[in-house]
Amino acid sequence: MAPGAPDAANGPALPLGDDPAALLDAAAWALAALVATIEEAATKPLAEVLRADPARTAVLEAARLVSRTGDTLTPHPSLVYADGPTAHSAAQARLSSLRQAVSAASGLADGSGGTWADQDDAVLLSQGRASAMTGRALAGRVVPALPGLADRLAREGSRILDVGTGVAALALALARGFPHAEVVGIDVMERVLALAAGELANAEAEVAGRVTLRHLDVADLTERAAYDLAWLPAPFLSQDALTAAVPRLTDALRPGGWIVVGTNPAVADPLRRAVAGWNAVRSGGNSLDTDRMVETLTAAGASEVRTFPTVPGGPVLVAAQWGPTH
Ligand SMILES: C[S@@+](CC[C@H](N)C(=O)[O-])C[C@H]1O[C@@H](n2cnc3c(N)ncnc32)[C@H](O)[C@@H]1O
Repeated sequence: MAPGAPDAANGPALPLGDDPAALLDAAAWALAALVATIEEAATKPLAEVLRADPARTAVLEAARLVSRTGDTLTPHPSLVYADGPTAHSAAQARLSSLRQAVSAASGLADGSGGTWADQDDAVLLSQGRASAMTGRALAGRVVPALPGLADRLAREGSRILDVGTGVAALALALARGFPHAEVVGIDVMERVLALAAGELANAEAEVAGRVTLRHLDVADLTERAAYDLAWLPAPFLSQDALTAAVPRLTDALRPGGWIVVGTNPAVADPLRRAVAGWNAVRSGGNSLDTDRMVETLTAAGASEVRTFPTVPGGPVLVAAQWGPTH
């Protein structure tokens, strides 16, 4: 098959033209233009941001992320977010991906590792800020749709477990979203927990006072009937840790409690699929997709399983309840 020609079995290929490396190089800059534009549009109207930097906007036009009719610029939906905090989190998610790609590229040259523990503080902080969006989605959209959970979390003494708490951005978003809940964040990485402690020190005292950090592998969790809600960012755990996590978490749930798992949907595009696989291997994670996670939770005895898409092509949240008699 000619390079760049569509592969019917695997979905469309990138139109790389006759100098593929140069086009991929330019694509990295187009992503940089996208991230910078979204970040600025978190605090200013998008139309103003697009007009303020015509050269950068020309890159977005060439990448078909902005179209022009006369003097009117129309952004692609991927540049438009519901509000400033969502735009900020989305920009930070792409920035984290870009930073990890740079680290992968430089690792080839300098021999440094590529696992999550090798990422520098800037990557960990970007990834954390991106996951604040997930915390807000959980509080605003997912929990209210799960039978009984909002009532439980509105009670004094309710408890939430944040597995892989990272820099505690998601833990803080959950503590803000549920003002009566205590949030316990666990992580295997001491360095990220030190960053998390700094983030707690900078947050509102009342909110940070309800967040506790523990240096703990989810596979070693021994609490029983202790949490109303447990969050699990599945793609970031090794296959072994993920397999061990599910029974530990079901034991740790109070009867009738819910686990919500962040998952990546299967993608048809061969480039995105291969990149996701490389990322999982590099970061010490796994490539279990949304459908496999639904199967895993069902096989583990969940009484109910529901899925919540986030953004098109983005993570899917899988919520599973273990009934009062589990
Ligand atoms: C993407 S980060 C989470 C970001 C986080 N939500 C935040 O607000 O910063 C995933 C985290 O999972 C942690 N992790 C990986 N395997 C783990 C395990 N077995 N038990 C606990 N944490 C784990 C990693 O160290 C990493 O900090």
